[in-house]
Amino acid sequence: MRTSASVAGVSTSPEEHRATQTSLYGAPVDALAAEMRALLGLDDRGVAGVIGVSAPMFADVRAGRRSRIGNPVATLRLQMLRDLCRHLREGRASADDVPLALEQIRVATAPAPAGPEPVTSDPFALTDDQLREAARVVRRHVAPTPARRWPLLEAATGVETWVKHENHCPTGAFKVRGGLLFVDRLLASGHRPAGLITATRGNHGQSVAYAGAAGGLPVTVVVPEGNSPDKNEAMAGYGARLVVAGHDFQAAREHAAELAERDGLLFVPSFAPDLVTGVATYAAELHAAVPGLDVVYVPVGLGSGICANLAVRDLLGLDCEVVGVVAERAPAYALSFEAGEPVASAAADTLVDGVACRVPDPEAVRLVNAGAARIVRVSEEQAQAAMTLMYRATHNLAEPAGSLALAGLLADDRRDPAHTRVAVVHTGGNCDLEVLAAAAGLGPGAGLDVGARS
Ligand SMILES: Cc1ncc(COP(=O)(O)O)c(C=O)c1O
Repeated sequence: MRTSASVAGVSTSPEEHRATQTSLYGAPVDALAAEMRALLGLDDRGVAGVIGVSAPMFADVRAGRRSRIGNPVATLRLQMLRDLCRHLREGRASADDVPLALEQIRVATAPAPAGPEPVTSDPFALTDDQLREAARVVRRHVAPTPARRWPLLEAATGVETWVKHENHCPTGAFKVRGGLLFVDRLLASGHRPAGLITATRGNHGQSVAYAGAAGGLPVTVVVPEGNSPDKNEAMAGYGARLVVAGHDFQAAREHAAELAERDGLLFVPSFAPDLVTGVATYAAELHAAVPGLDVVYVPVGLGSGICANLAVRDLLGLDCEVVGVVAERAPAYALSFEAGEPVASAAADTLVDGVACRVPDPEAVRLVNAGAARIVRVSEEQAQAAMTLMYRATHNLAEPAGSLALAGLLADDRRDPAHTRVAVVHTGGNCDLEVLAAAAGLGPGAGLDVGARS
């Protein structure tokens, strides 16, 4: 076991280590931890999540087994938490301020993940050449996906409704297009890192795992605790090393950034120019297959899908609205659209895991705010109803985010009645059986045994 002496390099007692911490943070960390529990309602795991270190690392610091946290962002956040506690003690802040203050601490100090310089593309100024080149790269693995009308679906929507079936991509979701272009451009730039690492709730990770394997690069994916077991298995199935860390996506992302630095891996962000340009290939396929669309509905997580649709619409000079759809329990992009600037939501606790974004990407917000017609919010119940409808009307399985665009079309009370030729992007079909059963009202006791997970 590591001793305190080996950490400090000199022979000191735990008491002396605590004294060192006093000089770093203004209070011994274990006293501070007790105060954070009492005033902020954060247990040690919660504190570790906010400052962006692993729970064992925080436990080591608290117990004096480690004298400092090497990561300057985590240290700064700990200092900010200490200041927040002081403000609460002094009556300069109230308990009601805590959720927003915690969010502000995270957002204001969010480290910019390292990634390669954008090589080919600028989603703000997509060119014909970039799109053509992206299609050439993506086409090696992804055949154009169908865009189809389904009579039973149209009976429910009341308008001509084209479903763009991105669930037919390898990996079962549109994300793989972005991963393929990202890896291709990376290798084309002559850069071959020791491996790739990313954080994900699932489809982005499957995309990086698939594209990394195609490019001969080892891939590590960090997922938050409680992530979809099926998506975890799928990522491992494509050969990725899976690491479970953090209570939500944001915490997993910060852990991935730490591992990238420690192990010399290239961090693949969830929003990057080449990812958007890769995804743009489906929007180009859609408009080629279905000219004259009035509206395209797209689910919004971190924004690569909607930005890709906006970029293609503008490149082709089309008069077609692009409408973003978010889960009302993960409203960051709706709030940002209304405010005209990036706004994080206090939580992103939604069953629509593909769009469970709390902290929006500022570049994506700029593009969405400049080009989208509106952002529609969808309740959990509406999201589930759309999954069931998608299944009944098309017999294509959708994960919750996969039918969110359909839910958005059904919920959109601001669609111009003259806009009757619309498309919804079926973004992914990677649905756990339990999630599908719950959406269909076939939970435990309803007569459907979804079987035990081995
Ligand atoms: C199925 C599905 N739909 C929609 C999204 C949201 O995409 P974006 O993050 O590009 O906005 C995701 C994100 O992973 C997804 O997996």
